[in-house]
Amino acid sequence: MRYAVFAVALALGVGALLLADPARAATDAGVPSILDPASVPAQVIRELAWLLFGIAAAIFVAAEGALAWVVWRHRVREDTDDSLPPPQLYGSRPIEVAWTVGPLLVVLVLFLVTTRNVFSLQAAASSPSAVQVHIIGHQWWWELRYPELGIVAANELHVPVSDADERRPIALTLDSADVIHSFWVPQLAGKTDMVPNHTNHAWIEPTVTGTFVGQCGEFCGTQHANMRLRVVVESKEDFQRWVERQRAPAAAQPDAEDPAVRRGRDLFQSLACASCHSVEGTRADGRVGPSLTHLMSRSTLGSGVGTNDAATLRTWLRDPAELKPGVHMPAMNLGDSEIAELTAYLRSLD
Ligand code: CUA
Repeated sequence: MRYAVFAVALALGVGALLLADPARAATDAGVPSILDPASVPAQVIRELAWLLFGIAAAIFVAAEGALAWVVWRHRVREDTDDSLPPPQLYGSRPIEVAWTVGPLLVVLVLFLVTTRNVFSLQAAASSPSAVQVHIIGHQWWWELRYPELGIVAANELHVPVSDADERRPIALTLDSADVIHSFWVPQLAGKTDMVPNHTNHAWIEPTVTGTFVGQCGEFCGTQHANMRLRVVVESKEDFQRWVERQRAPAAAQPDAEDPAVRRGRDLFQSLACASCHSVEGTRADGRVGPSLTHLMSRSTLGSGVGTNDAATLRTWLRDPAELKPGVHMPAMNLGDSEIAELTAYLRSLD
């Protein structure tokens, strides 16, 4: 019975592996697969993974093959004489040497290849042309700071694509504001933990444009699964346009606005919103929650729990926990007209 359960589990596992199509994972909203890398470190990791898999597969086939041969060769036969013990062997130098030297060589090869990769992965981020990004993990969202560009964003990391003539890695400085999180975008790089009071470094070098999804890789509380990250890899020109949009002042001039937007802004500043969120150019300068300066430049809300549209925004303002149970932003007990005005204001933050 136990073997039957094991066999069924194995068959299901192998079936799932065969059905999973890595090509499907390519871009937006796809299943991110380490087998479909789109960045230099991820390619290095995939090559290493295949090498290890190949060596392990060869050892598996050799060991299981030898076992099967022995079982078959020494099966019980008609003429088997059980009355005497089989001939006894004591030690064999060739066999001893083989099973000592073989594994030693395997371990040595793996050690050398892994060490080479570790050093190559550590070296590239110090390139002077690297784009610097400081990423800070919060329960449960990502703060993204570009110190050289003076940009503060959240949850959607925009980076330029690197091309062969002019390589441009992205150097990531990783920190945490509260508990341990982990930066993980499988198609771009391996996982790197984000530890409170300890700065870690990683880098990516995307080689194709597109949107790549990531996910916090370390359990960090109730909404760990909804701590999603999107990395938008753009052409140099598109990235430049994004940078200019992020650096432009956020809201339009007070007098030239829709009255609902104006009332929304006043509400935003008089309620608790402004003590947790910042909007560049206004009195709102909180750092507990994501910066909302260019909220409308993002495609999702709540670190990936919903699309960034008016309906989701209203739901979020009424009760954030409806979309993200356990979220640290409280329900503000707002009336319908207040929600409408705040929505109008937030939707003006282009
Ligand atoms: Cu942050 Cu899990």
